[in-house]
Amino acid sequence: MISVTNLVKEYRTASRDVRALDGVTLTVPAGEIHGIIGHSGAGKSTLVRCLAGLDRPTSGDITINDANLTTATAKDLRSARRRIGLVFQHANLFDARTVLDNVAYPQEIAGVKKSERRARAAELLELVGLGDATQVYPSQLSGGMRQRVGIARALAVNPDVLLFDEPTSALDPRTTDEILDLITHLRRPDLAMIVITHEMHVIKRICDSVSLLERGQIVESGSLTDVVSTLSGKLSQQLLGISAHESVPGTLVDVLSRGSDAARPVIAHTSAAVGAELAIIAGSVEHLAGTTFSHLRLAVPEGTDAAEVIRILKSQGADACLTSELQGADAQEAAA
Ligand SMILES: Nc1ncnc2c1ncn2[C@@H]1O[C@H](COP(=O)(O)OP(=O)(O)OP(=O)(O)O)[C@@H](O)[C@H]1O
Ligand SMILES: [Mg+2]
Repeated sequence: MISVTNLVKEYRTASRDVRALDGVTLTVPAGEIHGIIGHSGAGKSTLVRCLAGLDRPTSGDITINDANLTTATAKDLRSARRRIGLVFQHANLFDARTVLDNVAYPQEIAGVKKSERRARAAELLELVGLGDATQVYPSQLSGGMRQRVGIARALAVNPDVLLFDEPTSALDPRTTDEILDLITHLRRPDLAMIVITHEMHVIKRICDSVSLLERGQIVESGSLTDVVSTLSGKLSQQLLGISAHESVPGTLVDVLSRGSDAARPVIAHTSAAVGAELAIIAGSVEHLAGTTFSHLRLAVPEGTDAAEVIRILKSQGADACLTSELQGADAQEAAA
């Protein structure tokens, strides 16, 4: 388990001070894949660097299982760092070493016997699907294969925590999905994984839980199903967002149903109850973390009470609100 409490990181530069992390609190239990999503400059890499022990936070605590990284001495920090595996956007491999020797490197540093570390490296390369490429040099590999080597290397120390900083941002969509499937495949009950990304696709495909990082602060956090279920939430709008569209006559209402409710004729029932035809003008149906979510936008004709429509939708277990209530900066951002 990894636990972060009130983490602050300030950078002092000649021209200005930057508060890159501004009170981040976060817990990721072992066995879970947690996604951290945010725009450029939100503080994602700073968070990874602090978690990986590469950067000292200004204040706050980071605990991995029972070891407090922030109060550790330099020597203890070095050993704590061995419990953390780190995968970068570009695999950052040693070009002069074979794939096998790249993966064996962390154990070499740790003083593990050559035969032992090579056997472990071969095993890990098998795990990531590169069992027959052990003697190849990184320059001969595709981006996806290099990333597999980077993942095998991160696993060499048998970490308690695996951190990924934008692991698929440099890959094409198909290779991205292959790497995401590999990350899911690495799931173990004793391993906590954190995936930093700016792509919602990554969150949708592999994460159990998610945090939204904005200007150094976590503004929303929770299990994927919980954050998506709140229609007005930023993550819900980004994960199930409906694009902006031409204006249509009538009042627009957004409705969100989940699980078995998503399969029920909620709209038909509401149409019948108010005695008016409700047109579905936009929609998005997603299967996330094993649950189906249906987000629809309805046009309520003039002369029909939209508040009554919302009340009836909610009485059937759906979340509903006027679309105009969602049309803030966030909805615009989600639609972009
Ligand atoms: N070494 C540094 N010195 C000064 N400022 C820094 C330093 N590293 C990061 N920053 C600043 O901290 C803020 C957060 O940067 P960070 O790299 O963590 O963002 P990010 O979310 O990873 O962005 P990106 O998606 O572009 O990688 C930015 O304003 C950045 O300019
Ligand atoms: Mg970054």
